Amino acid sequence: MNERILVVDDDEGVRESIAMTLEYEGYECIFARSGQEGLDMIANESPDLVLLDIKMPGMDGLEVLRRLRERGDVLPVIVISGHGTINTAVEATKQGAFAFLEKGFESDALKVNIRNALEQRRLETEVSSYRQQAEIRHEMVGESPALAEVTEAISRAAPTNSTVLIQGESGVGKELVARAIHRNSKRGRERFIQVNCAALPEELIESELFGHERGAFTGATQKQIGKFEQADRGTIFLDEVGDMSLRTQAKVLRVLQEGEVERLGSARTIKVDVRVIAATNRNLEEAIDSDAFREDLYFRLSVIPIRVPPLRDRQEDIPRLVEHFADLFCRENNFRPKLVTPAAIELLSGERWRGNVRELRNTVERLMVMTPGDVIDVTEARGVLSSAPRSGGSELARADTLREFKEISERAFLVEKLREHGWNISKTAEVIDTPRSNLYKKLEQYQIKQEEDG
Ligand SMILES: Nc1ncnc2c1ncn2[C@@H]1O[C@H](COP(=O)(O)OP(=O)(O)OP(=O)(O)O)[C@@H](O)[C@H]1O
Ligand SMILES: [Mg+2]
Repeated sequence: MNERILVVDDDEGVRESIAMTLEYEGYECIFARSGQEGLDMIANESPDLVLLDIKMPGMDGLEVLRRLRERGDVLPVIVISGHGTINTAVEATKQGAFAFLEKGFESDALKVNIRNALEQRRLETEVSSYRQQAEIRHEMVGESPALAEVTEAISRAAPTNSTVLIQGESGVGKELVARAIHRNSKRGRERFIQVNCAALPEELIESELFGHERGAFTGATQKQIGKFEQADRGTIFLDEVGDMSLRTQAKVLRVLQEGEVERLGSARTIKVDVRVIAATNRNLEEAIDSDAFREDLYFRLSVIPIRVPPLRDRQEDIPRLVEHFADLFCRENNFRPKLVTPAAIELLSGERWRGNVRELRNTVERLMVMTPGDVIDVTEARGVLSSAPRSGGSELARADTLREFKEISERAFLVEKLREHGWNISKTAEVIDTPRSNLYKKLEQYQIKQEEDG
């Protein structure tokens, strides 16, 4: 459909010449002869863009712009005015005009500005629809008292700048909690930078966190901005913080104490204003006892501690979660909504869910994908719960002991899943419901490399 442009100008000659240019470009033009008429048409005809004359009898262009912004309208406006009215230009820009053209402008200038304004608006709309989708995906569902405590802690932590340490088993929703804190904080519109401390080998994590200068070490062919710097004014989420080496822990502690970072290979320090949220599924208190985690860092991180309880301690949440995920997957896959019967929900509620919410989520996803009909009942639920992962056939003949058998099938399973997910480690770890750190260990242990997939 053609984009519709509203021209607000009291001068008929101007309206006609603009119309000629725009119609030739394939835009649809509508016209208003006064400010008031312009406002009415914006309300009734929903144009995609407005060309607005400043000097008009009655309500002038600036006033139109002001009223438009007052009612929260983000419609792109290009302002047109007579010569030498630089103050007006400044004022119009302050009121959020996209551009300012002086009368006698070239038609090319008009076309370029219109194209840019429309493109910007298209991008903004796109971003806000992604944002909406992301919000649904990051919504925390559940009404159990145990989860209510977590929600309460989130709202207490959010407005502060304090460091938060989120603990809990794998898959309970720690990342979701971290995002909720950021979203509800004063930094909510700034960046949320996530670093997975378990996914990176020791040598890489430091340059990932602090950045490096070109030539800082062999292979550093480009300068890299660290995550702490990227998160400036926003939030950094140190995920799996319990898997950080002691050396990196010492460096992170310094950033927290000094509020500044140093890129590897540079003597210069850079001030950063970053809020830190950390999460781990390890027992940090135990790690401190065994000297694997620094106690001073622990105290720095756990200014506000939040513990997310395992799903088995809040089974009341399961029905709502099942509905939420069912809805989510049907929507994402453009399926018709599917009904999960109360009996099936009861069956699911009785499971142990060692993998917590993530495992429940994956199970519901499988249910949605595997069930062709609109109704999911006990039979379907049972079917999905019992469908154990397959293992790699003939290779198994090589196994003599139970241990060998387990290892061979585990290896085959991992290779198959990695292949299925394009060797994306994080994704695979999520799908097979194991911490990434564990998947990395397994890759080491079994010497699994992508090349073997050639
Ligand atoms: N209360 C909830 N409502 C809706 N979705 C949830 C909830 N809790 C967790 N999820 C979903 O479950 C999945 C796992 O959650 P998340 O990644 O936050 O877990 P985690 O505790 O960070 O796990 P890990 O320790 O393995 O990193 C995600 O897809 C998340 O969106
Ligand atoms: Mg996580």
